[in-house]
Amino acid sequence: MEKKYLISIKDSNIKFNAKNNNYSILDSAIASNIILPHGCKSGACGSCASKLTKGTISNKNSELISKNNSILLCQSFPNSKEVIIEYTSDELKILKEKNRNNFKIIPKELLLQVVENKSVTPMVKKLSLFVPPKLNFKFYPGSHMDLTYENNKLCRKYSIINSPNNSLNLESNIVSFLIVNHNRNGLSKIIHNKIKPGDLLKLKGPYATFQYKIKKDDPVIGIAGGTGISPILSIVKDLLNKNHTLNALIYLSVRNRDEILEMSTLFKLRQKYKNFSFKITLTREKKLPNNIFLNGRVNDNLQKIFKDLSTHKVLISGSDKFVDATYRHVLKLNALKKNIYYEKFSEN
Ligand code: FES
Repeated sequence: MEKKYLISIKDSNIKFNAKNNNYSILDSAIASNIILPHGCKSGACGSCASKLTKGTISNKNSELISKNNSILLCQSFPNSKEVIIEYTSDELKILKEKNRNNFKIIPKELLLQVVENKSVTPMVKKLSLFVPPKLNFKFYPGSHMDLTYENNKLCRKYSIINSPNNSLNLESNIVSFLIVNHNRNGLSKIIHNKIKPGDLLKLKGPYATFQYKIKKDDPVIGIAGGTGISPILSIVKDLLNKNHTLNALIYLSVRNRDEILEMSTLFKLRQKYKNFSFKITLTREKKLPNNIFLNGRVNDNLQKIFKDLSTHKVLISGSDKFVDATYRHVLKLNALKKNIYYEKFSEN
């Protein structure tokens, strides 16, 4: 008989079973439709970190961990009948809200038709798929979907660039993603080289893993490295939609002007909302055409715009390195840890 493992989150009603200990704690949570923070699922990004407070787990190297320890849920397998994990009080508040039954959006498997797959920069394609209205597709701002190919042999998460309407529905029935070609034999290469309008793609989701808590009037800065702009735009557009006078700034970092993403969307937002602005930093281009642009890394020039971020909510999205460096930098500008939310994209 298969042994059952019960995993619960301290100080909450959130509990789920792992069928057996071949499933990571994160995979068991996902299979039970429990929303927990995660990213790469391969141990690279650190987004699924939690603290083990009761029970034992083994990790991929079969080491047992039995004392209070920070663990990566995507790399941890239950080893005792009861496992309790813990989050900080701020993380727990968001988790409870996201996992409230009347709030919860259950991820589904969808077969969607590609309507457009166009190059928007030399390295990035914008993939758009038709979502039939009868599916009543709902999602939270900043959610991602898992795209799969070849009977699930290839799977990768991509953030939805759209913002939902007030009922959390997709407005236009078209869902879009920005896909970087990593030039490896993975899904991004297939999307860049093979996928055409009319093709059917299998997706699972949405997953609301970019977790944040922002009140209507909190000033917001969204800092994006490359395609990290997708969840930032999704969230900031939603916040602006709820408060037209919100003080918000999007800061996009790319190497040069060929790589700028969603510039027309940024201009449209600036046109529509009087307290919204944006900046684009070019890390490898020295000549700047106008004052929308800065040059150098975020770290070098964020303090040119902000001296103090102690009252801001900060959203960061991009590669592991980009997020880590930006996180350290915004702390130096007095941003409070509890007000910094991030999502990392692993390039693996
Ligand atoms: S390290 Fe676990 S999801 Fe990235």
